[in-house]
Amino acid sequence: MDIDVFTLFPEWFGWFSEQRHVRNALELGTRLGYVNYREHTPLRAGQVDDTPFGGGAGMVLRVDVLDSALRARYGVDPLDLRERRRVIALTPGGRLLDEDYVQELAAEPALTLLCGRYEGFDERIVEHFASETLSIGRYVLAGGELAAMVVCDTILRKLPGALGHVGSVLEESFSEALGGAPEYPHYTRPAEYRGWRVPEVLLSGHHEQIRRWRADRSRERGEQS
Ligand code: ADE
Repeated sequence: MDIDVFTLFPEWFGWFSEQRHVRNALELGTRLGYVNYREHTPLRAGQVDDTPFGGGAGMVLRVDVLDSALRARYGVDPLDLRERRRVIALTPGGRLLDEDYVQELAAEPALTLLCGRYEGFDERIVEHFASETLSIGRYVLAGGELAAMVVCDTILRKLPGALGHVGSVLEESFSEALGGAPEYPHYTRPAEYRGWRVPEVLLSGHHEQIRRWRADRSRERGEQS
C-alpha cells in the first residue's frame, strides 16, 4: 500500500506516524508520504488559497496550486492521475466512510488523500483531479487532516501484521464474520466488580455456547443501531 497525503500541515501527522500499528504497517512495507501544498505553489509568498468568486466567507484552495503539487509529486498531468491511483478529496459532503468503503480502499495498491482547509476546494479540483470525495461524518472539521488520519488508521490496521493479532481484524464490528453487525460485548478480569458480574456463559468454557451467546449479542446490537 502506498499512500500520499496532500496537506498544508504535514507536521500534524508526526504523532500519527509514531503510533504502534502505523509503525508496524510502515515496517511491513506500507509507504505513507506527505506533500505540503505550500512547497509547490506557483504563486508568490506561498499563497495556496483565495477568496471565493461570488463573495462569501473563507478561503478556497486553488486549482492551479493542486495542479502544480500533484504534477510535482507524480510527474504526470493530474488529469491522467486518477487512472493510475485513487485520488480522494476529503470533504464533509462526500461519500460516507463505512466498513465497506474501508475494505474497498484497503484493497487498493495506492491512494492519494487531498486535505481541504477553510471553505474547501475549488470545485474544478474535485471535477478534474479527484476520483471521488470522502466524508468521515456529517460535520465540518477545520480541515481534512483529521479525516485523513481516520482513513489511514482504518486502512492500515487492516493490513496483515499491523495489529500483531490477526483475529482482532477478522472478528470485529461490521466484519463478514459477524454478518456486518457490531461486535459483541467483551469482559475481562475481575469476574465481579462492585457486584457487576460477567455473564456466566463466558466463564463456562463451553465454546459453542459462548459462540452462540456472542452471535446473539452482536445481532441484538445490530438491530438496536
Ligand atoms: N473536511 C472537513 N470536514 C470533513 C469531514 N467531515 N470529512 C472529511 N473531510 C472533511
